[in-house]
Amino acid sequence: MHSKNQFQRMKENNEKIAMITSYDFPSAKMAANAEVDMILVGDSLGMTVLGYDSTIPVTIDDMIHHGKAVYRGAPNVFKVIDMPFMTYHISTEDTLKNAKRLYQETGAQALKLEGSGEVSEKMGLLVRAGIPVIGHIGLTPQSVNVLGGYKVQGKDQAAAKRLIEEAEEIEAAGAMALVLECVPWQLAEKITDRLSIPTIGIGAGAECDGQVLVYHDILKYGVDRLPKFVKAYTDSNHILGEAVASYVQEVKKETFPEEAHTFTMDSSHLPEG
Ligand code: KIV
Ligand code: NA
Repeated sequence: MHSKNQFQRMKENNEKIAMITSYDFPSAKMAANAEVDMILVGDSLGMTVLGYDSTIPVTIDDMIHHGKAVYRGAPNVFKVIDMPFMTYHISTEDTLKNAKRLYQETGAQALKLEGSGEVSEKMGLLVRAGIPVIGHIGLTPQSVNVLGGYKVQGKDQAAAKRLIEEAEEIEAAGAMALVLECVPWQLAEKITDRLSIPTIGIGAGAECDGQVLVYHDILKYGVDRLPKFVKAYTDSNHILGEAVASYVQEVKKETFPEEAHTFTMDSSHLPEG
């Protein structure tokens, strides 16, 4: 398994960090077999596997349930788990309690928190308690209704300046890495150059130290519309959809099961009547 220091060295050596989300046993196993550097148990699971239309309804218990399954599928991969909506805002005590549960019960190696300011203070608190943290700025989906939608962030000079300051504040708080979501590549490059910790981009261009994408997006699995920054490497909706439809049709047409799928016995052993 990679360590925090290895990710730091990867940045220094210009070796890209590949990260993908996983939410359950099979997706974690697949990510591990693909030799991903880091798995994110993202609260995007609210949309990808639970069918909500945002990450806002996701709870600590949801995250723990899925985080444990990911652990079983990828025990030897560095796993980051999201602190979900409003589990690190209410108070210091509440934040520590939630972080303790997520970290201890799922076996993840780091927690990810969205935002800066008071959230940076919470990050410092967790690091001092011994829990590695990763920041997440730019488009922060837990604040979608404050941001006014899923849009690119930091395009004008004031917003760009703010994001650079947020990034530096998060590094100063002791975060081990920073996710940049939906920011122009030029700004992501500038932040990446300014920080000594690795940046991991999603819709943030090629200059970040690493990339993260959502498992269901790159597989086009259960999602209909893909954001501009996603590259779909296959079309599971089509491929798996046809497979499931074939099964249903074969049952109806009585072409499944065949002899090869069937158990048999000596008919004389069948009870009479
Ligand atoms: O929940 C998630 O999947 C995320 C990323 C895509 C960065 O936070
Ligand atoms: Na997330």
